[in-house]
Amino acid sequence: MCGIVGYVGGEEAAPILLDGLARLEYRGYDSAGVAIFDGERLRVAKTKGRLRALSDMIQGGSAIRGSIGVGHTRWATHGAPSDVNSHPQVSRSGRIAVVHNGIIENYAELKAFLVSQGVDFASETDTEVVAQLIEYFYDGDILKAVGRVLHRIEGAYALGIICGDEPERLIAVRKDSPLILGLGEGFNFLASDVTAIIKHTRNVVYMEDGEIAELTREGVTCYNHLLQPVRKEVSHVDWEIDAAEKGGYEHFMLKEIMEQPEALRRAIFPRIRDGEVILEDFGLSDEYIRALRKIFIVACGSSYHVGMVGKYNLEKLLRIPVEVTLASEFRYMDPILDDNTLVIVISQSGETLDTMAALREAKGLGAKILSIVNVVGSSIARESDVVLYTWAGPEIAVATTKAYSTQLAVVDLLGLYFARKRGSITAERRQAAVGELLLLPSKLEQVLEKQEAIQYFASQYFNHDSIFFIGRNVDYALGLEGSLKLKEISYIHSEAYASGELKHGTISLIEDGTLVVAVATYARLFDKAMSNVVEVKSRGADVLALTTEDRAETMGRNANAIITIPDTDELLLPSLGVAPLQLLAYYIALMRGCDIDKPRNLAKSVTVE
Ligand code: M6R
Repeated sequence: MCGIVGYVGGEEAAPILLDGLARLEYRGYDSAGVAIFDGERLRVAKTKGRLRALSDMIQGGSAIRGSIGVGHTRWATHGAPSDVNSHPQVSRSGRIAVVHNGIIENYAELKAFLVSQGVDFASETDTEVVAQLIEYFYDGDILKAVGRVLHRIEGAYALGIICGDEPERLIAVRKDSPLILGLGEGFNFLASDVTAIIKHTRNVVYMEDGEIAELTREGVTCYNHLLQPVRKEVSHVDWEIDAAEKGGYEHFMLKEIMEQPEALRRAIFPRIRDGEVILEDFGLSDEYIRALRKIFIVACGSSYHVGMVGKYNLEKLLRIPVEVTLASEFRYMDPILDDNTLVIVISQSGETLDTMAALREAKGLGAKILSIVNVVGSSIARESDVVLYTWAGPEIAVATTKAYSTQLAVVDLLGLYFARKRGSITAERRQAAVGELLLLPSKLEQVLEKQEAIQYFASQYFNHDSIFFIGRNVDYALGLEGSLKLKEISYIHSEAYASGELKHGTISLIEDGTLVVAVATYARLFDKAMSNVVEVKSRGADVLALTTEDRAETMGRNANAIITIPDTDELLLPSLGVAPLQLLAYYIALMRGCDIDKPRNLAKSVTVE
């Protein structure tokens, strides 16, 4: 929920930290700060507001000199966004500075203890407790003091720590919040994710839960929770810095929408050989796949919407029940799982706390976990029995687009792979779907070419207060995603309904000029979709219909405007249909002057319950 970065090396730290924070700002953006050792003491600069305000405050970094420091960009949990609650949080003497992503659950108890020892607190944050506790235990060795603190704090944390008395050492700690180390020649980094450091190094160490690392200019040493050294593997990041930059687009969201065909090629093509889906090094045996009796899909937000489509598609392909559940509900619903149940966890970030908690719950109940994840080495990926990466590349905009499309493609690949192992569909049916999967990226390119028509439509309706999405079956699932995308970035009230439900209440909201987006791509239910369009039209609604090219004419008799997608296998319709809905949300938000990449109150990954 917050972004942290730390640097130790031979160059000025402040500009490097600001640049790293700029790439992490998607994780939280209500305040920002840095702490740097200036040769004599720790200098801290922090402020409420966007990173720009911090950068102005320290003149782009030139106002604080020093070559070791930590930085933070915040999404508030404990304590409202304010200068004093911003990170870094420092100990009473100002000797120790801490940046933190996560939550210290027992902070109140620890704070009471420290207060009883005469320690004064300046902020309302849980993080200040960590800084003060480290100072309480500090006797000249920051690593040892941090080690003692870790035995006392509970919760989720990625921490970056510096101490003014030992200005050559930077300490990193990880538990249930992401943290990577970037290794360079004469410098080293800690960061919440690779985007913050890729400009400087591609050599990365993924820290495990409970590990502590000591970074100096010369090197990095990792320890377990008992401060015994552990050997770590160095991974090489193979994507380019451009992937994390806007590349001429006004917003990351538009860039990521346009990147979808390429992302789909990366997700799909290496997994298809000779007309069949091949999942190499796949950790589930054929016997297990054949014995499967039930699948749970667990996820949040847009990933949950992928799960909704996944339910329809997997049930069609496998003929076993698939239950899709919000991760935040799963852990409290006492789910019924057994050895023949597979739990599929879907997450772009791989660090959503609700999803992580659901994964652990399911694992504890004995189910196998297969995760579909974008961020390599993320917590969800590491705790799963099997991981299928989406290979969408870094997704920076808070509103997910290319992660959604690639998740959907991976679910379809998985369904076709399982269907072959289980013999649940014919070879012809399977190969037809595989053939269409290979065509999906180029068909999506055709859809994205309709950008201007969608922009024009957005210009007609961007000032509406309320927009409805309707559809049946996979079109309903797609409507849910279109509606979420719209409300998330444009702040327009929007609801998605299964069309058949309209007459059970919601239709009373339809009046002259209400905008209804009718998703009607699914051939089997097209006639029903038409009837629903007529129903809302006759009550005054303006209808934008999303349908396939071959049905455009029929739909055109009733809808006010139409966006078409090429026909494809019915499993893949949502993969094409989602793009116009993403573009519609984007252009409406643009015309309303919204902060598209960083919508209010949100953050890219949600690491609180
Ligand atoms: O990283 P995850 O896929 O686990 O995130 C889940 C949701 O928070 C996420 O999909 C959210 O709904 C998006 N901002 C929607 O665009």
